[in-house]
Amino acid sequence: MQPYFIEQFGNASSIHHHGQQTRAAVESAREAVAELLGARASEIVFTSGGTEADNLAVFGLVKAGDHVITSTIEHHAVLNACHRLQEIGVEVTYVPVDGQAVVDPDEVHQALRPNTKLISIMAANNETGVVQRVEEIGQVAAEADVYFHTDAVQAAGKIPIDVAEWKCDLLSISGHKIHAPQGIGALYVRKGTLLQPLFYGGRHERSRRAGTENVPGIVGLGKAAEIAKRGFDDGSVQKIAEMRDRIQRTVTESLDQVGVNSVEAPRVPNTTNIHFDCIEGEALVIALDLKGVAVSTGAACSSGAIEPSHVLTAMGLNADQARASLRFSLGKQNTDEDVDLLLSILPETVARLRELSPVYNRKTVVGR
Ligand SMILES: Cc1ncc(COP(=O)(O)O)c(C=O)c1O
Repeated sequence: MQPYFIEQFGNASSIHHHGQQTRAAVESAREAVAELLGARASEIVFTSGGTEADNLAVFGLVKAGDHVITSTIEHHAVLNACHRLQEIGVEVTYVPVDGQAVVDPDEVHQALRPNTKLISIMAANNETGVVQRVEEIGQVAAEADVYFHTDAVQAAGKIPIDVAEWKCDLLSISGHKIHAPQGIGALYVRKGTLLQPLFYGGRHERSRRAGTENVPGIVGLGKAAEIAKRGFDDGSVQKIAEMRDRIQRTVTESLDQVGVNSVEAPRVPNTTNIHFDCIEGEALVIALDLKGVAVSTGAACSSGAIEPSHVLTAMGLNADQARASLRFSLGKQNTDEDVDLLLSILPETVARLRELSPVYNRKTVVGR
């Protein structure tokens, strides 16, 4: 990325040679992103991130009078976009999930109406890591001749993606989930899909996203996509899965009143969501942070909100269990030593917090 901040600073839309150099870098990044998704380069639209990609997909296709099918566990980038659609006269069905946070493709099928324009169901959930049955949902959409968008922000680089196999017309990714910088993302738009742009301006990105390109960000996303694709063969994705599994195994074996949310569902390899009963999740996050381990409760994007996670409550956890749940997610830079550190401090930290919990004491007394 570095040369594109200073040395090669041409506007990619300019005809002069400075512009042509950056244009070449943008187009080769587009090819790398397309390759990660099994798409054509011309089908990739660069955006400012996953949120913009989701919004472009949803608002770009739907108008008042249309019907949209989505799920109760989507990221707020889709959920809040759908709430806005409702305010402007679009009907939205929020399909529920089962106890493992999985959307049933049959329920999506049953929700279809004559005016259904779009199905938007995420590929992998950001809190539980659950991988949805996207291929089957894509099939439902294809048979009904309805557009299918999937938010693959948490799936990219974690599981192989093939837009043809998934039968999706639109697919969102975000840079910072695949080790590219923050503030860059992309939307795959199947050839022939007519999207209304979110921004009006120049003809950048084939008139799908006006505005001078974020060249360093795009170059970073292209490189990250290239490295992410290699991760399926070079053992790095597998390594993350092993570390995640060790965390799950050790925590559930060494602590009482804990459990892995969505443990029976297929999940991306880097995420596990664990409930530690009788503990306030935020307190555990802070205690672990003080000892050098960064984890989160619910979606990082909604931290600070007092509401328990909409994902965990949608799958049937009560508010207390949801508040007692933590998401552990690993990246390629994590090491076995990081996992050792976590596992060495977790039991005592949990025990200390439970000592302070009147609920835990009561439960122990009742149990005796
Ligand atoms: C599933 C999902 N969708 C969308 C987004 C939004 O992406 P961005 O932060 O790039 O706007 C996120 C971010 O965490 C996410 O996890």
